[in-house]
Amino acid sequence: MKRIFVTGSGGQVGTELVAHLRRLYGDANVMASDFKAQEGHSGPFALLDVRDRGAIASLLDAFKPDTVMHLAGILSARGEANPQQLWETNMGGLYNMLEVARERGCSVFFPSSIAAFGPNTPADNTPQDTIQRPTTIYGVSKVAGELLCDYYHLKYGVDARGLRFPGLISYEALPGGGTTDYAVHIYYEARARGRYTSYIAAGSYMDMMYMPDALDAVVRLMEADPAKLRHRSAFNISAMSFDPEGIAASIRKVLPDFELDYDVDPERQAIADSWPNSLDCSAAREEWGFAPRYDLDAMTRDMLARVPER
Ligand code: SER
Repeated sequence: MKRIFVTGSGGQVGTELVAHLRRLYGDANVMASDFKAQEGHSGPFALLDVRDRGAIASLLDAFKPDTVMHLAGILSARGEANPQQLWETNMGGLYNMLEVARERGCSVFFPSSIAAFGPNTPADNTPQDTIQRPTTIYGVSKVAGELLCDYYHLKYGVDARGLRFPGLISYEALPGGGTTDYAVHIYYEARARGRYTSYIAAGSYMDMMYMPDALDAVVRLMEADPAKLRHRSAFNISAMSFDPEGIAASIRKVLPDFELDYDVDPERQAIADSWPNSLDCSAAREEWGFAPRYDLDAMTRDMLARVPER
């Protein structure tokens, strides 16, 4: 991986991944793209609608990357408001990207999600290979995306790799329209007001990870020796599993007066209920050395130190 093209660079992951990759590979070797204009890039940037395959092809022909990281997509809760738009953006965009990458011999990174699982998936210690019958359009697009990436590898030899991201917590850019977003908002509200009203119910456990560990996982996976990969496009990864009470208890170790109450949103709660409680990440550890550094309390200390600066 020497020259990398990233879509969705304005999103929660893209904002930090582009900066991380530029530190590792050089500003000029990482091209960012997003459907919204962005200021202040230290390397190349282009406006891009990933539904436009011709536009992707032109940008790749000009930049000549060896790797594309296809982050552009709509998240779970927002997708339920407009499933047709999600399909066109998430599936149409991935298909376009795989085709353009196939023609040009690029490797592909695809972010799947805990949303690729559903209500009849084993919820605890969810295996790497298990039942995947999601009930959100976002989850359906992630399962289809995992399979499409595997197919492009089998059929055409495209080096497509991917991770099933859990909820990602970070302070550079906010997530937009996801179900796990509460675990980001709670830190901002804890700092600003000393209290938070959660739209996810007590007792709803979901997998989570701090952004620095997610960035490290992307690079480790993409740099991994392909001979060691038995899975390719959808590794379970997670660093912690908590419910709103668990994250509140962690915040109280820093802010003892923090208060949590609930106003549960039935739609996002139903999505959370359909996802696993905690993933088995042994395939990622064994095949490419997945090793997250932040547990809940370490993440909380760092988030609460950083959030006031935002
Ligand atoms: N964090 C995402 C969401 O909540 C899951 O991939 O939609």
